Parts: sequence; C-alpha cells; structure tokens
Amino acid sequence: MKVDFILNDRPVTLAAEPGANLLELLREQGLFSVKHGCDHGECGACTVLLNDNAVNACLVLVHTVAGKRIETAEKFSDHENLHPLQEKFIESGAIQCGFCTPGMIMALEALQRKNPEPTEAAVRDALAGNLCRCTGYVKPVEAAL
Ligand code: FES
Ligand code: FES
Repeated sequence: MKVDFILNDRPVTLAAEPGANLLELLREQGLFSVKHGCDHGECGACTVLLNDNAVNACLVLVHTVAGKRIETAEKFSDHENLHPLQEKFIESGAIQCGFCTPGMIMALEALQRKNPEPTEAAVRDALAGNLCRCTGYVKPVEAAL
C-alpha cells in the first residue's frame, strides 16, 4: 500500500503494510522525535500534528493520512535554530530525560496555533495526554506560558 501525504512541509509517497500505524512509518523515515512509548494512546510520547491537531501517532492508521499534513518536531530544528517552545523548555529546565519532550512540544504547538495566549489551565489541559515521569509538569507549564 502507498500513501501520499505532506510530511514536514514536503509531499511524500510512502509504502506501508495495511494496518500499519503512523508511529511505525515515521520512525522508519528516521523521525525519531516520535517516541515509541506505550503503543496504546496512553502516554503521548508519539504526539504529532495532523492538520494542525495533536494526535497520538500510534493510534493513526497510515491509510487515513492520505492527502493530509503531518508534522513532527524535526520540522522545528535545523540544528542551529530551535522553535521558541524548544528554547523555552531549555531555558526553563523543563527537560530531564527528554523522552516526553517532543510530544509535549507538539501538543503545545497545536495549542498555540489555536490559542496564542493560553491560560495556565489551557496549557495544563493541552498537556493532559502527555505523561512525564520526571518533571512534575511545573517547568513545562512555565516554559509554555
Ligand atoms: S506511544 Fe502513542 S500514546 Fe504512547
Ligand atoms: S522529562 Fe523524562 S519523561 Fe518527561
């Protein structure tokens, strides 16, 4: 099966097994910011943007992304310049082991596109699906605000 979609602003045609999920496909492309955590939609480590909405890539079947836009955290870094959210995470000390961080950045990017001036409650709500075992969320929320 081949699927055409837009991946980090570039049109792609990628082959996948029927029933494959987007998490597997993206990691096969070397997009390792998309973390393989629970594989069941519980941890948010695989969060990507699908047409500007944060989704768990492990729950998205590849054939459903045909014609859509997918974005991962790789889009935001050219190894010299970081996304402002990434800068703030570093400045605020919001990263410990870092496993959850790309998923958090994508969840917050989705929020920012809809709501550029979010309240703390909105930020916490946006991160509700992203489990972090390290930070306690105080620093990530501070960074986002
Ligand atoms: S790996 Fe997708 S939500 Fe955990
Ligand atoms: S920084 Fe380690 S899981 Fe969040």
